[in-house]
Amino acid sequence: MEVRLKNLSKHFGKVKAVNNFNLEINDGEFVALLGPSGCGKTTTLLMIAGIYKPTAGGIYFGDKIVNEVLPKDRKIGMVFQSYALYPHMTAFDNITFPLKLLRTPKEEREKRVNEVAKLVQIEELLDRKPAELSGGQQQRVALCRALIKKPDILLLDEPLSNLDAKLRTLMRAELKRLQRRLGITTIFVTHDQVEAMTMSDKIALLQLGKLQQYSSSDELYNRPVNLFVAGFIGSPPMNLIDVSLEQEEGKLLLKNEDITIEIPSKISKLIQSRSQDNKIVLGIRPENITIDHKRGEEAEVYVVEPMGMQVLVTVKLGNLQIKVLTAPPFTKKMGEEVKLHFNVNKIHLFDKNTEKSLLLN
Ligand SMILES: Nc1ncnc2c1ncn2[C@@H]1O[C@H](COP(=O)(O)OP(=O)(O)OP(=O)(O)O)[C@@H](O)[C@H]1O
Ligand SMILES: [Mg+2]
Repeated sequence: MEVRLKNLSKHFGKVKAVNNFNLEINDGEFVALLGPSGCGKTTTLLMIAGIYKPTAGGIYFGDKIVNEVLPKDRKIGMVFQSYALYPHMTAFDNITFPLKLLRTPKEEREKRVNEVAKLVQIEELLDRKPAELSGGQQQRVALCRALIKKPDILLLDEPLSNLDAKLRTLMRAELKRLQRRLGITTIFVTHDQVEAMTMSDKIALLQLGKLQQYSSSDELYNRPVNLFVAGFIGSPPMNLIDVSLEQEEGKLLLKNEDITIEIPSKISKLIQSRSQDNKIVLGIRPENITIDHKRGEEAEVYVVEPMGMQVLVTVKLGNLQIKVLTAPPFTKKMGEEVKLHFNVNKIHLFDKNTEKSLLLN
């Protein structure tokens, strides 16, 4: 089922929890709503579910506007962050509860419960009550309950956040496979960028109720449209450095008291025409800086953090602290001198005032 949000808003008094949100989700797509705490993810999901009424705007399932359709008639399955299982009921009864409400005959209920339990491999656990299940098993029960009505749309609100790190990684992959197999349009709320990036076809990144960028994880990582996206996506985060645009001897430079970087000629015209008052934020990811290079900016090792596959080195360059990812072994110690080389073909440039990318349209 295709889902569209048109100028969707939800205000709680003065708080604009969701502010003029437009989104198009194709049939069968897996979309993540990502953003920091309080950015409006759950509010959006509850409006799609029909639990909250929008202050303004429309929600469309296919060509049909569903603003006035009751939650029970929307053909959605939802998994809440807390799972919200009934503690006194067995997994079997929890899962079949939605069918009981629909007065589905007992035989049909049993058939369907076996189908969904098999999908997520909890056939052996159906007699247990929630307290007798692990977090991951409870999560699967909640997922079964959402799937048993054969919904057109699956809504998931941080379903993995209660699980330990190992189980979360496992369930991430399983949930992705299950979604692909069933082909149900799925909207997944998370504040965890790794979860969003690994699982979804597209990510809608929100801040303060407003959509910042809607694209694939690759696009979000490599072509952030503004400073917020650039700073939010990526761990360790992109280095963001205030610079001014200056012209010297026919060269276009990004300068502050600590660094000078020459802008590649292929983008210099574009930057010159777009930059309004020469105040720019230079963005460069830690993996796009080379350390201990023969030439480059002189800097001092501030701290070294080995991470196995890579080493995260923080260096001091004048007043700046810059993060660099490098391959092990890294032998320099705290306080020692290194040289940094910025890969200028990988830089991002943002207008300091508008915070918009100067490189993208
Ligand atoms: N029922 C409510 N009454 C008043 N304000 C609310 C209500 N529900 C949410 N808000 C406010 O709306 C904003 C968005 O809340 P929402 O729960 O959608 O955030 P979220 O992105 O899901 O955050 P989190 O990651 O912490 O779950 C917040 O500022 C929140 O305080
Ligand atoms: Mg939430």
